[in-house]
Amino acid sequence: MNSEEILVGHSVIKIIRGDITQERVDAIVNATNPSLRPGGGVCGAIHRAGGQAVTQDCRRVMAERQPLVPGEAVATVAGDLKARYVIHALGPVWKGGKQGEPEELASAYRNSIELADRLGLSSIAFPSISTGIYGYPLMPAANIALRALRAALERTRTVREVRIVLYDPDSYEAWLAAAR
Ligand code: APR
Repeated sequence: MNSEEILVGHSVIKIIRGDITQERVDAIVNATNPSLRPGGGVCGAIHRAGGQAVTQDCRRVMAERQPLVPGEAVATVAGDLKARYVIHALGPVWKGGKQGEPEELASAYRNSIELADRLGLSSIAFPSISTGIYGYPLMPAANIALRALRAALERTRTVREVRIVLYDPDSYEAWLAAAR
């Protein structure tokens, strides 16, 4: 089988190949930077596809708070995306794995799910947080993320579908292997 679904209680985690900016879900998660700037990678793609409304709402949020610390997540409007919200989650920069990165990565997923649940959302799409520019090795990242997502989904009220949207074949294969 060339995709994977994991059932968790009343919810499902789907591992799929694709471009997250094309997802039709309640919330698209962005792998952001501490100050919610457009940046590159999936972040640049989400800001481009969402348009000025997303970038401006990020500026509004940042005018009222300190930079994000790794593991935090905040919501903005989704502009031109086929979603109601963008949830901007900050993953850790990989520094060898002994400086709290696993816990921070797990928090980024857990806090995004909890925020979506507080907003009353049902479906949410994630990219592979931290495994691009931030350098987190793929297999451990996928394993940590899946464990954090399963635990968070045991407690959700409204979130029912989590879509992990992998852009490149290596990421997709690593997540499939982790799921199996
Ligand atoms: N859809 C889904 N995934 C995508 C897309 C897309 N359109 N574009 C890129 N990706 C994938 C990358 O292939 C990678 O597997 O997203 C994953 C995360 O990579 P990055 O975007 O580099 O995110 P991260 O490692 O968390 O680094 C965050 O990068 O863009 C900047 O502002 C961001 O400074 C922050 C840093």
